Amino acid sequence: MKQDLSVPVIAIDGVAGAGKGTVAKIIGKELGFTVLDSGALYRCVAYLALKLGRPYSLGDLSILARRMLVRFPGERVTLNYIDVTEQIRAHEVDLLVPHVASIPEVRSAVRDAQISLRLPPGLVPEGRDMGYIFDTPHRFYLDAEPEERAKRRMRQNAERRVFVEFSEVLEAIIERDKLDSERTHSPLRRHPSATLIDTTKFNEVEVASFILTHYRHDSLLSAR
Ligand code: DC
Repeated sequence: MKQDLSVPVIAIDGVAGAGKGTVAKIIGKELGFTVLDSGALYRCVAYLALKLGRPYSLGDLSILARRMLVRFPGERVTLNYIDVTEQIRAHEVDLLVPHVASIPEVRSAVRDAQISLRLPPGLVPEGRDMGYIFDTPHRFYLDAEPEERAKRRMRQNAERRVFVEFSEVLEAIIERDKLDSERTHSPLRRHPSATLIDTTKFNEVEVASFILTHYRHDSLLSAR
């Protein structure tokens, strides 16, 4: 599928827990661009598979992925015009989605769905391979020390009243980094042209403001 290169894209990827989602939302709001939560598309495929309520084949999954219509109005997610923001975060979806996301036919269908969202006035896609999927000069890769990401996860857990030992949270983050970078399909790696941002000492507002400054500066230069 061809991309409309005249539509600006600010691609944000990087390690789990570096704040990609929040940073993308701040930027999207500021510029009036749609924010694409790339994981949500895989979650929608898994959710549809569960809704089928019968054993499904690989063929079924790729057909579901090809036919679904996912949109991101406001901070919600709609699937075939129905709001599924909460449903796609269900535990059963969490369990199935890594398998769904590892199927090449599903990835290819999701890639087309992602590219079809490149519409005016612009798009802020976030997720591990966005710097590779989108052809854009504005690519950013967020990183942070595992200990800092574990602290952030501990704070989120406390807000949700979930209590897990710090050492366990840290171990899970290190393990996830390893899995993400070693997997065969779309492993986590920085696009050579992406600007690396170490977010260890900065909050999401500061990171978003850095990206916005960079983006505006580069856009002005390329318009000259
Ligand atoms: O970020 P998340 O938990 O919503 O992602 C859901 C699943 O999709 C997870 O297994 C990682 C996978 N994923 C992917 O393979 N590529 C992306 N760009 C985003 C998510």
